[in-house]
Amino acid sequence: MKNRCLIDIKDFSKEEIDDLIKVANDIIAHRDKYSHKCDGKILATLFFEPSTRTRLSFESAMLRLGGKVLGFSESSSSSTSKGETLGDTIRVVGGYSDIIAMRHPKEGAPTVALKKTIVPIINAGDGGHNHPTQTLTDLFTIYREKKSFDNLTIGLCGDLKFGRTVHSLITAMMRYKNIKFVLISPKELKLPDYMKEILDEKKIKYVETTNIEEHMNQLDILYMTRVQRERFFNEEDYLRLKDYYILTKKKLKNAKDNLIIMHPLPRVTEIAQEVDDDKRAKYFEQAYNGVYIRMALILKLLEVK
Ligand code: NCD
Repeated sequence: MKNRCLIDIKDFSKEEIDDLIKVANDIIAHRDKYSHKCDGKILATLFFEPSTRTRLSFESAMLRLGGKVLGFSESSSSSTSKGETLGDTIRVVGGYSDIIAMRHPKEGAPTVALKKTIVPIINAGDGGHNHPTQTLTDLFTIYREKKSFDNLTIGLCGDLKFGRTVHSLITAMMRYKNIKFVLISPKELKLPDYMKEILDEKKIKYVETTNIEEHMNQLDILYMTRVQRERFFNEEDYLRLKDYYILTKKKLKNAKDNLIIMHPLPRVTEIAQEVDDDKRAKYFEQAYNGVYIRMALILKLLEVK
């Protein structure tokens, strides 16, 4: 039977996501019960692009399940630097491990890996395209705070063009009832047309604006993002756009009391540190939640009961 993999958030149904959230909540409540579930199993983390949270939270997740981890955190320390193809790396590492999490700077690289893998494979971010496990983390955080995925107005702010977390989150949230998106970005960093076409096709409500305060009073979620420097072709454009949005307490003046402020992290300047003390700031909880939902994901893909 073909291995179950996670390349795009759509690979999982809403029901499967509900199940993962149930397991992640159970892990939080009964940590000891899970500490030997993956004894003898190995997770390989193949990171061809830098990461702190995603790689370490995957490793922490496997270690907390009793398994072991191996891998590399930059392509220069792998045989890619000798000219090995991604397909060959994936095929070989599948023989050294039971499950692979990979991050790659090229959009679509996980689809290539999928053809060669002999173990379950997880897309831990591909270029400016998708980041489904960040989305699982985001969904888990939203569920813990809002208890439902329906009837939400979601502001997404910053680099909507290159921000892969934004693309995957929109793809996931558009499956729920009565969702509205407020897309806040500079003109140069608007959501790609291919994503807007999907929203139009599915008749999902959205507005585009350059002004972060314009719809602030309607938002249930404000998802801030970093301008993705590594995807820019020229540094001048990055420097011009990098401080376009800086969320401050003042800008939150008209926001709902039960707004939640999220960010996949790392943060650069887009959220002022003074906001960290606001009870609505949830980005650090969000990062912690990433470990539990990844534990649930590893259990699912390895078919551990
Ligand atoms: C995000 C990513 O790598 O896309 N970070 C993460 O996984 N937590 C967001 C970012 O780097 O800006």
